[in-house]
Amino acid sequence: MSKHKLIIVGGGRMGTALLSGFIEANLVDQEQLAVVEPDHIQKLKLSESFPSVKVLDVVDDCETLILSVKPNVATDVIDQINSFNCSIDRIISIMAGITCEYLASRLKNKTAIIRSMPNTPSMVNKGMIAVTKGPGATSKDLTYAIKLLSAVGKVVEVDQSQMDVITAISGSGPAYVFYLTEALTKAGIRLGLDDELASTLAKQTVIGSGILMEKTGEEPLDLRLAVTSKGGTTQAAIEQLDRDNVNDLFFNAVQAAANRSKELGDILK
Ligand SMILES: NC(=O)c1ccc[n+]([C@@H]2O[C@H](COP(=O)([O-])OP(=O)(O)OC[C@H]3O[C@@H](n4cnc5c(N)ncnc54)[C@H](OP(=O)(O)O)[C@@H]3O)[C@@H](O)[C@H]2O)c1
Repeated sequence: MSKHKLIIVGGGRMGTALLSGFIEANLVDQEQLAVVEPDHIQKLKLSESFPSVKVLDVVDDCETLILSVKPNVATDVIDQINSFNCSIDRIISIMAGITCEYLASRLKNKTAIIRSMPNTPSMVNKGMIAVTKGPGATSKDLTYAIKLLSAVGKVVEVDQSQMDVITAISGSGPAYVFYLTEALTKAGIRLGLDDELASTLAKQTVIGSGILMEKTGEEPLDLRLAVTSKGGTTQAAIEQLDRDNVNDLFFNAVQAAANRSKELGDILK
């Protein structure tokens, strides 16, 4: 039997997001796609949602393998690839913290390695995805990875040394935006609005602001200044945010995430 074109190992949130993006973009024939997923319920869900895609128990020979499991099971998957002596042309790893060098050093057979950091808006094809070329990867491998991942969002090529910070900005970033939405909702409730109204106002404001940024192409600073008239309500809020050093608080949060990304990689060195 010929090699699978593409296998995604880990059919969880990101694995499924990538799979549906690839299918929607018609990048690979569904019959040539497979997902490796050990969880019985998740397997059933995958078969229901993607009836033409094979759901496998273990890894197999393939042209491209996307590693989309949690970093703590990375070594199990690599051991599986080694024990089955799989022939894999290239691996695209989306695992937080794990370096290309670590993967290359653990793999028995020579395989081109690309590392990537997507984020959850990839589920709606609005992802931000960073990619970097690792050992053995050629510019052709990189071009292929960029084409594939472009199906679920905007792709940028970066240096691997930037990956921990990128993980902290765009990888974890959607959570900060949701946190802001939660904080706005809570503020509305504390100031007397009912829960549903406060939540609707906060969510629609975040959604609308994101789309406004995308559609106008204007910088966030300019869009903010456009609604900040001198002596007005927005200015009062921004001045309070500045007095409370919210910029520094954000810096600390992003730094904590970047440090954690580095630690995750260091554990496996
Ligand atoms: N979610 C994000 O925002 C995000 C962003 C960027 C990068 N990432 C990276 O993407 C990777 C996956 O994250 P996720 O959020 O998609 O996690 P997830 O939803 O937990 O998905 C991981 C999947 O892999 C399965 N799995 C576990 N062990 C396996 C094995 N040995 N072989 C094959 N599959 C196995 C899990 O099954 P079980 O449930 O049975 O364990 C689960 O379905 C992580 O490395 C993460 O760092 C995530």
